[in-house]
Amino acid sequence: MSESPLITSREKLDLVRADFPVLATQVHGQQIAYLDNAATSQKPQVVIDRISSYYQHENANVHRGVHTLSQIATDTYEDSRKRIAEFIGAGSSREVVFTRGTTDSINLVAACLGVQGIGAGDEILISEMEHHSNIVPWQLLCERSGAKLRVIPVSESGELEYDEFERMLSERTKLVALVHVSNSLGTINPVRRIVSDAHVIGVPVLLDGAQAAPHMRVDVSDLDVDFYCLSSHKLFGPTGFGVLYGKAALLEALPPYQGGGDMIDEVDFAGTTFNEIPHKFEAGTPNIAAAIGFATALDYLEELGYDWIAEQEADLLAYSTSRLKEIEGIRIVGEAENKASVVSFLLGNTHPYDVGTVLDRLGIAVRTGHHCTQPLMKRYGIPGTVRASFAFYNTREEIDRLVSGLFKAEKMFA
Ligand SMILES: Cc1ncc(COP(=O)(O)O)c(C=O)c1O
Repeated sequence: MSESPLITSREKLDLVRADFPVLATQVHGQQIAYLDNAATSQKPQVVIDRISSYYQHENANVHRGVHTLSQIATDTYEDSRKRIAEFIGAGSSREVVFTRGTTDSINLVAACLGVQGIGAGDEILISEMEHHSNIVPWQLLCERSGAKLRVIPVSESGELEYDEFERMLSERTKLVALVHVSNSLGTINPVRRIVSDAHVIGVPVLLDGAQAAPHMRVDVSDLDVDFYCLSSHKLFGPTGFGVLYGKAALLEALPPYQGGGDMIDEVDFAGTTFNEIPHKFEAGTPNIAAAIGFATALDYLEELGYDWIAEQEADLLAYSTSRLKEIEGIRIVGEAENKASVVSFLLGNTHPYDVGTVLDRLGIAVRTGHHCTQPLMKRYGIPGTVRASFAFYNTREEIDRLVSGLFKAEKMFA
């Protein structure tokens, strides 16, 4: 994207859209309206080009070679870690562990905490609005250790029942693990207050940030959060890559995750010593190209600016919510006061899958189903929802297409 100072907001949007080649794709003879950004976001050309250029000119294994190409690859890879650390406000790149994504980051903490000594009588606090990725690893840990998983309820409008959280938080709590922004409801949780309340009694907090950083500036130092997990692919970067941020002292205290190359200091049959953080948690050849591509995606976002992104997405959220409410049979699920640009809904008694199929024929991509939050769907007594999730490159015209598609579906299933 290049722009003159006199450019209008619409012209800027058109320029930004042109950075994302997938947005020109035709589906069933129509230009795609891609409204499934919470599942994964599209990639700007600069990210695609950077990955391609890495493989064309710089590809070598990292941390192992004396030869020049390996040193170039290692430097570029480690520079990406510094860039990512800076972007999320980490105090040092030592606090940035590369993983396969949010799921892997949470599993890493759950596995390592298990070895560290969580046991019977201890509790882990999560909420009713968690993604399965922030439920199942803790369930497995509780099964292994005898600890108890406690679940903070969610209100009818989709907000955390904060009084309940305060009641449940105790000296038995070993960790609070909560979603920053709900993928199903769009709710933005009051994470600053959560971290500060948990810290009053010395309880560490892990935040599942998979859905937060695409919409807002996340600064882990400012939040004072202990662990923060995110996925590159939701942030306009490549798939299969993500980050676990952890405070240095906490990461140092944890045992290693998986064993293998790179995570060791010295191996002997009599015993092995381990590498320093973050390498202690990164066994095997990493996804080098993804780290570099992700750093490029963050540069791209920085250039766009979160102020513009926030303005754009606030408009899309307000416009979609008011337009959807024109449809008589619509039930919006999740109307928290503080919301990201995600709208989940049901169309009368029509199954979300049927609605999604009609929309797909019109070139409109939405997600249908439980969105990996089955307990949340049970909380609302529904099988799932249709979810439209917006990124900064979406338009009001795409929302108009969604709404006219829903009117069509309503007639078809009446
Ligand atoms: C809130 C939330 N947490 C965790 C995840 C898992 O992310 P990943 O599949 O990239 O590991 C997702 C993905 O949809 C999510 O929305």
